[in-house]
Amino acid sequence: MKLPESIKILLLGSGGRECALAWKIAQSPRVAGLFIAPGNAGTAAYGTNVDLNPNNFGTVKQFILTNNINLVVVGPEEPLVKGIQDYIREDSEIYHVPVVGPSMLGARLEGSKDFAKGFMARHGIPTAAYRSFGKDSVKDGYAFLGSLTPPYVLKADGLAAGKGVVILDTLEEAKAELADMLGGKFGAAGNTVVIESFLSGIECSVFVATDGKNYKVLPVAKDYKRIGEGDTGPNTGGMGAVSPVAFADGEFMEKVRTRIIEPTVNGLATEKIDYRGFIFIGLINVDGQPYVIEYNVRLGDPETEAILPLVGSDIVSLFEAIVYGQLDKYQLDLSDGYSVTVMCVAGGYPGDYAKGDKITGLDTAAAETGSLIFHAGTARQGAGTVTNGGRVLSVTSLGTTLDEALAKSYRTIDGISFEGKTFRSDIGRDLKKYGVK
Ligand code: AMP
Ligand code: GLY
Repeated sequence: MKLPESIKILLLGSGGRECALAWKIAQSPRVAGLFIAPGNAGTAAYGTNVDLNPNNFGTVKQFILTNNINLVVVGPEEPLVKGIQDYIREDSEIYHVPVVGPSMLGARLEGSKDFAKGFMARHGIPTAAYRSFGKDSVKDGYAFLGSLTPPYVLKADGLAAGKGVVILDTLEEAKAELADMLGGKFGAAGNTVVIESFLSGIECSVFVATDGKNYKVLPVAKDYKRIGEGDTGPNTGGMGAVSPVAFADGEFMEKVRTRIIEPTVNGLATEKIDYRGFIFIGLINVDGQPYVIEYNVRLGDPETEAILPLVGSDIVSLFEAIVYGQLDKYQLDLSDGYSVTVMCVAGGYPGDYAKGDKITGLDTAAAETGSLIFHAGTARQGAGTVTNGGRVLSVTSLGTTLDEALAKSYRTIDGISFEGKTFRSDIGRDLKKYGVK
């Protein structure tokens, strides 16, 4: 099976990840039309933004029919967890339109932490020891917490907008948190709570494209989640990312491949789970040994903004290979060198922040650096661009060294202005201890 040589693509999502995907898709000679729903001010440069909610499957279907869409690419997790792949595959009018993204069963790897832990246990994939608790087993939960050493890791089972993982230092706080979670703090997402042992090490994000049998590994990235320099302050959606990651060397990645990636892909196949899309494996390196912290069923944000510029090969042909089970024949070309993305966020984020502030310098800031400015939370207002989210812009640069790439991104950021502009100036600095220049 093949897609037509010239195709129309519907890309769902609106963040920096989708802006980077739109940028990469638009470079393919096979694209006759690219629609981004709902997109942002940046995606409009690469295709047509469509005012449509990706979680409203009926309107997605209508759009596919009216515009003769040949392929749907799903950026965020929510439509996948809600079953958009199954909806399209089972509809008599649009079943022939392939979707890059797993079925609802596959999306449980992200949509249910309890399912993900059970899956890893069934397939011998290294991860923290755990148990799950519900409203009827609170007392057992307290006892289990008492058997662990601090810090305590509690995870709401379902999707909780990135806030469902809580790590606490004292047993009292951990018990109170368990009661709060089971009491509805995260709504139904907390009906089941996974409690697991704390793993100490350095994290990285591994992205795997799979067609259900074959797989390709994309460049490894490290993201910076906390708002403050030196990884301090509250968690955000991500303040920057670097790729490749020095400690994820050949020896480490061979362990990742044999102990984690292959058992994951084979496990999905043996459990007859239709998975054609990307698996994002959040890994922790504990004294040289990889453990899975979490699975996500999509590409990462801001990691995508860092890794896609390192991919040389055509992304539409990659999507085609994923949806038609031909990844073994796909040649993935990757560039050497470093890629760095630094996120500019609105003042106050991840707390309250303003929207609608005018952004200046977008047309000129990258003139000398060649950086790529991917929009995350922006909107058009008249002839200009304004802030429209907490994470506003991600600035990606390539370099033969990490320092060169970083210098370009920071110089580009100097040329961009908006009220309250905030960014971390220490992206990638922690990798210096591995001798990275
Ligand atoms: P989130 O992206 O909200 O799922 O954040 C999860 C974060 O919590 C991870 O990136 C880790 O930093 C941390 N975390 C989750 N599970 C563990 C664990 N078992 N041990 C140590 N840290 C963990
Ligand atoms: N960068 C982490 C995420 O996309 O969930």
